[in-house]
Amino acid sequence: MKSQTIYSSLLLCILIFTHFLTISAERCVDILDPTNPSDTVIIDCPPTTNNDVYVKHQTSNFFEVTLNCSATAALCNNIKEAFNDAGKEISKVLKLKQIIKVNATFTDFNNAAILGSASSARYIPLTSDDKIIRRYPQALVKQFSLDVHPEYNDYDIIARFNSAQDWWFRTVNETIGSDQFDFYAVILHELIHGLGFSSSWGNYIELADNQNITGLTPNVNFNDDSQFEGFTERIFDKYVKFIPNGVASTSTYYTSQLNESIPIGTSFNNISEFVTQIKSSPQWNYAEFALLSAITNGSLTFTPAKNTSCNDEIYLESSLNPYVQGSSISHVSLIYESTSDFLMKYIFNRGESLEYLVQRGGNYSSPIGPRILSILETIGYETYAYPNPIIPTYEC
Ligand SMILES: *[C@@H]1O[C@H](CO)[C@@H](O)[C@H](O)[C@H]1NC(C)=O
Ligand SMILES: *[C@@H]1O[C@H](CO)[C@@H](O)[C@H](O)[C@H]1NC(C)=O
Ligand SMILES: *[C@@H]1O[C@H](CO)[C@@H](O)[C@H](O)[C@H]1NC(C)=O
Ligand SMILES: *[C@@H]1O[C@H](CO)[C@@H](O)[C@H](O)[C@H]1NC(C)=O
Ligand SMILES: *[C@@H]1O[C@H](CO)[C@@H](O)[C@H](O)[C@H]1NC(C)=O
Ligand SMILES: *[C@@H]1O[C@H](CO)[C@@H](O)[C@H](O)[C@H]1NC(C)=O
Ligand SMILES: *[C@@H]1O[C@H](CO)[C@@H](O)[C@H](O)[C@H]1NC(C)=O
Ligand SMILES: *[C@@H]1O[C@H](CO)[C@@H](O)[C@H](O)[C@H]1NC(C)=O
Ligand SMILES: *[C@@H]1O[C@H](CO)[C@@H](O)[C@H](O)[C@H]1NC(C)=O
Ligand SMILES: [Zn+2]
Repeated sequence: MKSQTIYSSLLLCILIFTHFLTISAERCVDILDPTNPSDTVIIDCPPTTNNDVYVKHQTSNFFEVTLNCSATAALCNNIKEAFNDAGKEISKVLKLKQIIKVNATFTDFNNAAILGSASSARYIPLTSDDKIIRRYPQALVKQFSLDVHPEYNDYDIIARFNSAQDWWFRTVNETIGSDQFDFYAVILHELIHGLGFSSSWGNYIELADNQNITGLTPNVNFNDDSQFEGFTERIFDKYVKFIPNGVASTSTYYTSQLNESIPIGTSFNNISEFVTQIKSSPQWNYAEFALLSAITNGSLTFTPAKNTSCNDEIYLESSLNPYVQGSSISHVSLIYESTSDFLMKYIFNRGESLEYLVQRGGNYSSPIGPRILSILETIGYETYAYPNPIIPTYEC
């Protein structure tokens, strides 16, 4: 018995130790416009000593929102209130340790199809426990309290909301109109993207060369001398599986194959040259498989870590054909539409308030369902113990 105890405590130490992440030599990526994932800048983020200030455990809202609002004072006030409520809601389920800073803009997008968008303001490369370098959302890296961390951006999350939509606010004493969207629901959804519910896989490469889309890849890296430096996943992708033609492979496996498509260090004169060469490599097959999975219902999953709020495979959005950047992959499947996990489906319907969706999903006490929470837990956020204070008991 005794030796077993020693053994298990040793095991625990090892388990805890492997959770430590190391800073990598790669640079950070800043997202300038969340509605355009290609609008990024590679930026130096040298190791910086942690001087995060202690935040009270009891803090009811860990989100600090700087709002640029081009609307009436009354409307801007409703927006502030909605952000405050959303921050409190997330702070109830995630055990946060550091304040998360949000740069939010409420402005006319001149595009009626978009409600809003948010992203991590900076993606930070860290070496995961399997020795693979992946990019982590800054809000998450802050929660790790590393003694030395890559330099942070002033903001953790960058968000934009479309002032041209007909918004409804639950703090206003009116029932939602049949053509209105619930602003609070949309903010909650977007902040969860900003926390890291977001894949790196996309159609950026072919899009940049105005070609028809035949495959998807994670973010590609070039150094200052235009030399190819491989592809980098996000931490979310570590748990993603592609299932083209019924055979499941991890995103990490596909990425490692695409890393072999062109020798690291190869220089290119322009993007066309690069796209032509990579598409003629045998590894482009994996990009094609990724696209096939992303447009085939039931062919894309997220596998949560053990002992999270939900251990089942979670289906991600893969029913849209053609592929839609920003909607495909980084959402849960519509099969969860009428469940407690409705919040992270890619589409919101007019006239449906969050309150209505919660009632339809089962009257549990948080709009952040068990699958959504499980995904956030799996990428590295700590959560409060279940089922407290959630009633009734959360079920997958
Ligand atoms: C606020 O947003 C508007 C519209 O996007 C922009 O033109 C303006 O410069 C922003 N103001 C500040 C202080 O960031
Ligand atoms: C906030 O984000 C907007 C883009 O949405 C950007 O133009 C602005 O410079 C950012 N503000 C700060 C203070 O970084
Ligand atoms: C809200 O509206 C209802 C019905 O119109 C009214 O009875 C109630 O007093 C209103 N409440 C507030 C706080 O204005
Ligand atoms: C893209 O697809 C369209 C329609 O399928 C076709 O007409 C066009 O030639 C294709 N373009 C390229 C560059 O392959
Ligand atoms: C792909 O290559 C990049 C750059 O060398 C590396 O950081 C990353 O860990 C590799 N990813 C995989 C999954 O092999
Ligand atoms: C890309 O570079 C190649 C080789 O220098 C050149 O032939 C080609 O015209 C360039 N393409 C574009 C779109 O600039
Ligand atoms: C996707 O598959 C699920 C079951 O696997 C089914 O319930 C759903 O209707 C399908 N959706 C579409 C758009 O085919
Ligand atoms: C995971 O959960 C099971 C059952 O709830 C428990 O027996 C086991 O000790 C847990 N494992 C860890 C590593 O927490
Ligand atoms: C949630 O509660 C409402 C009102 O009490 C009830 O009408 C509805 O059927 C409940 N929803 C579920 C899924 O149990
Ligand atoms: Zn979304």
